Amino acid sequence: VKPENNSIVIFGASGDLTKRKLLPALFHLYVNELLPEDFSILGASKTAYTDDSFRAKVTNDLIQSEGITQQQAEAFSKHLYYISMDMTDADSYVAFKERLETLSVTHNTVGNAIYYMATPPSLYAAISANLAKHKLNKDRNGWKRLIVEKPFGYDLASANELDEHLHTCFRERQVYRIDHYLGKETVQNLLVYRFSNGLFEPLWNRSFIDYVEITAAESLGVEERGGYYDHSGAVRDMLQNHLLQVLALVAMEPPAVINADAMRNEVVKVIQSLRPLEEQDLRDNLVLGQYTKSVVNGEEMPGYRSEKDVDADSRTPTYVGMKMMIDNWRWNGVPFYVRTGKRMPERLTEIVVHFKKTPHPIFGQNAPENKLILRIQPNESIQMDFGLKKPGAGFTAQQVSMSFDYNSLEENNLLTAYERLLLDCMKGDATLFARSDAVKACWEFVQPILDYKKEAKSLFGYKCGSWGPNKADEMLEKDGREWRFSSEEVIN
Ligand code: BG6
Repeated sequence: VKPENNSIVIFGASGDLTKRKLLPALFHLYVNELLPEDFSILGASKTAYTDDSFRAKVTNDLIQSEGITQQQAEAFSKHLYYISMDMTDADSYVAFKERLETLSVTHNTVGNAIYYMATPPSLYAAISANLAKHKLNKDRNGWKRLIVEKPFGYDLASANELDEHLHTCFRERQVYRIDHYLGKETVQNLLVYRFSNGLFEPLWNRSFIDYVEITAAESLGVEERGGYYDHSGAVRDMLQNHLLQVLALVAMEPPAVINADAMRNEVVKVIQSLRPLEEQDLRDNLVLGQYTKSVVNGEEMPGYRSEKDVDADSRTPTYVGMKMMIDNWRWNGVPFYVRTGKRMPERLTEIVVHFKKTPHPIFGQNAPENKLILRIQPNESIQMDFGLKKPGAGFTAQQVSMSFDYNSLEENNLLTAYERLLLDCMKGDATLFARSDAVKACWEFVQPILDYKKEAKSLFGYKCGSWGPNKADEMLEKDGREWRFSSEEVIN
């Protein structure tokens, strides 16, 4: 079913996110005929474009990034408009409102509107307040929805402040907080995999699972985003949002139905059950790292502190690895080891579920491990490791794997995360968007890390192209466990 006609307003239309993610996503939805019968896209920002020059810019960008044809560009352009405005100035919303009303008539969008805040977060408060001031927040005469990009705050206090402010301007049901990890097909598949198979769910608990690993590794460094990243770091950039959301889907109880409330109730319960980090945990179960100048395959890679726009004495972590415990019935005593970092050997996001060994190793001490590896990206796949008899004399067990590859599906035309989430927002489905209470619970959990990180001696160097600081291996070793890929496997 196609979504209802609507206007999509992009605040920050001349920015990077709009160019790299939003317009390509809207364009793909358009060519795949998934957008409404009629719609308008109104770009807003300070830059002085006209409708025509904005269309020319967008078309040009899309030709370069998506290789669109002239014909497609012309057809898509008919939906594109632009208004140059100071988003912090309440007066500029008078003309904005008129523009939106005109578009509502010409594109028959009956007042339905999505406001996408693709601006620096410092503008979120002003934009939402100004929309409310001009009554552009009211669901009367068509629905109104507000999409907020992360970061939702900088720490617990500022996140709460932002949230309270947003709630004075929009109702919670109108607010769609984007966490693009939830838009990934294989992240959603965690739910289908867990809750549509009688085979796995009975084993999915402390009686059968020894530990769980979640890794989100990136081979890239901070690239052009040093200015942003140096104030953010791995804990805010990846752990507080993407990784905790993924962990919640791995650990949650089955919702009674799949809808926004039922799902998000279960998600928030997991996050609220994370054992709060005490002083001792921060010392023993948390490793913060920063990549250092290294030679990878003969090529010299700069250390984080020499990256553009990064402070020369920066203590911002580009790696975080930690052990988390979930204090509830299902997971009591099962550690979740979670890590993410820049400049690791490859881009790889995966979940590894390690099952307990058999009670008694009748085929010798080197009993095979039972592991389930859910590969989120790239090369989306599911792999199961288990033991079989080694052919020949005797009874020796050897480890083998069985795997399923998403590419082998006939219809593997996956929507990108932004496509899926934009479409869901147009349909009013908030299932895959972060809810206020979950965001708050995530900040509550990570706040002690943000406070701790200021201390000296809490930051470890790691080589570019390695799996992080050795200290992170030691963290598992002392529990008698190991990462699937450990830091000894340095690529250079
Ligand atoms: C973003 C972070 O939210 O996620 C980036 O700000 C990170 O630093 C990116 O690189 C990773 O997303 P993906 O989809 O490439 O795994």
